[in-house]
Amino acid sequence: MENELQSLEAEAKKSLSNLEDVKQLEEFRIQYLGRKGQFSTIMRSLGSVPAEDKPRLGQLANSVKSEIEKLFEEKSQNLHRQSAQASSGSGPDLTLPGRCPAPGTLHPITKVMQETCAIFESLGFSVAEGPDVEVDYYNFEALNIPAHHPARDMHDTFYVGDSVLLRTHTSPMQARVMESQDPPLRVIAPGKVYRCDSDITHTPMFHQVEGVLVDKGISFADLKGILTVFTQKMFDKDLALRFRPSFFPFTEPSAEVDIACVMCNGVGCRVCKKTGWLEILGSGMIDPEVFKKVGYDPDVYSGFAFGLGIERIAMLKYGIDDIRLFYENDQRFLSQF
Ligand code: FA5
Repeated sequence: MENELQSLEAEAKKSLSNLEDVKQLEEFRIQYLGRKGQFSTIMRSLGSVPAEDKPRLGQLANSVKSEIEKLFEEKSQNLHRQSAQASSGSGPDLTLPGRCPAPGTLHPITKVMQETCAIFESLGFSVAEGPDVEVDYYNFEALNIPAHHPARDMHDTFYVGDSVLLRTHTSPMQARVMESQDPPLRVIAPGKVYRCDSDITHTPMFHQVEGVLVDKGISFADLKGILTVFTQKMFDKDLALRFRPSFFPFTEPSAEVDIACVMCNGVGCRVCKKTGWLEILGSGMIDPEVFKKVGYDPDVYSGFAFGLGIERIAMLKYGIDDIRLFYENDQRFLSQF
């Protein structure tokens, strides 16, 4: 057995030195060091040697096997290193830094919408949501705009059915909120609205945030105060604000609010249609007729409402001169925000 071990050692060393690649390395491992390999066979035959020879032969067998395993490990590292070097010429350069996936960003309209809601929430307003597909009653009737009222013409409505439509403003939420809550209340309702309308300051789908505040003793001064604080916070400075008398069937008195055009600093340009002002919202004191429809007593309560155009605010905030850019999904535009 001693001779057998010595010749196996010599044979294994020779064959190790002749190995040329990783594949031959594996064949060597199976032939000599594997579970059914030659060293295992010799180890098993130790059982049949005389008891007095067992310790010496066992020790010899172990030391020969360890020596071959050590040489095998060295050879294995050399051959793997050679193989990696050979492939690096044609394969990827592993020393290059990795490529980071470009992180997504929020759409500018989403950002302005979130910021708007956060400002009103900081002023004590809670948030309510309503349906985009609305019934005629809430979009018009409940807001003092009966059938055939001329104000319906201004809305360029997309009808879905006879008295079902895509809401043309977030004002239906005034009626929905007041029907479901008793005064006092202080609520905003953000969402999408739809009108058959398109040019550099109008899109067929846009976003509004409705605001409703009802309590005892609320006056137009409260409306002015809240909207002034909002614009100061949104634009981080004292922007010129203009309350322009207007008409909405559901508010009396009514005002549209304009902000000095940031594109031309109020001088006049194509965005503000040479007026120096850009309209951002409609507002007013809630009409007693609307209160009566939802069961509020107009002799006890008063309140104001407003409807902000989010795209217009985003245009002013970021200096965008065509509202349609928001919806063209051009990466070069969107990645700037
Ligand atoms: C209304 O929609 C009223 N519901 C606002 C209101 C609410 C008045 C509560 C009184 C009380 P108006 O049609 O003016 O009003 O629209 C409000 C704002 O939405 C406008 O000031 C403008 O900023 C924006 N807006 C209107 N039409 C478009 C459009 N097609 N594209 C983008 N923004 C628009």
